[in-house]
Amino acid sequence: MIYYIVNLIFFFLPASRLYAFKKVLLSWAGAKIGKNVRVMKIRVQGVNLYIGDNTFIGDESMIMGGKSNIYIGKNCDISSHVSIISGTHKIGNIDKAAGDGYSEDITIEDGVWIGFGAIILHGVTIGKGSIIAAGSVVNKNIPSGVLAAGVPAIVKKKLYE
Ligand SMILES: CC(C)(COP(=O)(O)OP(=O)(O)OC[C@H]1O[C@@H](n2cnc3c(N)ncnc32)[C@H](O)[C@@H]1OP(=O)(O)O)[C@@H](O)C(=O)NCCC(=O)NCCS
Repeated sequence: MIYYIVNLIFFFLPASRLYAFKKVLLSWAGAKIGKNVRVMKIRVQGVNLYIGDNTFIGDESMIMGGKSNIYIGKNCDISSHVSIISGTHKIGNIDKAAGDGYSEDITIEDGVWIGFGAIILHGVTIGKGSIIAAGSVVNKNIPSGVLAAGVPAIVKKKLYE
């Protein structure tokens, strides 16, 4: 319910301004937000959210799911229109394919860069310093220090020596 109000207020706020006020709003809703966190016009629903110091989250990005934890580390750059979705369903039956709902924690480690429009699914960890290319769908863990791309995202190359 509190996130509903926060999302409503966010809707009327300028995307690239009032970061301190946005931190107050997210903290009021129960999120743990570090220092110098900048979020644009994002939408959060239902999750326990942690965002580390100096992390940026771009416009129209969405963080939602069931009552799971979403940890976003420090020094991360999460572009616009990124969806971080911790909720899903078991496969049901022929009459209703979406069976029982459940959610799994998502961890985005320090220093990760996620490109525009990527989708990060339930239960996934993205390792420190990795890059997720624009438009990718991450449905499995991505190790540290790599570029991953595509649908589903696979490791394309190692980034650092
Ligand atoms: C990932 C990115 C940074 C390119 O990095 P790069 O080191 O130049 O990568 P390369 O061009 O060497 O590509 C490496 C591989 O990844 C693939 N790849 C790169 N971007 C991809 C994408 N968005 N979707 C699918 N595959 C992609 C390439 O086709 C290549 O695949 P291959 O080795 O099988 O041929 C860039 O493609 C990207 O997605 N940038 C994000 C842009 C963005 O979101 N901007 C908003 C502001 S943050």
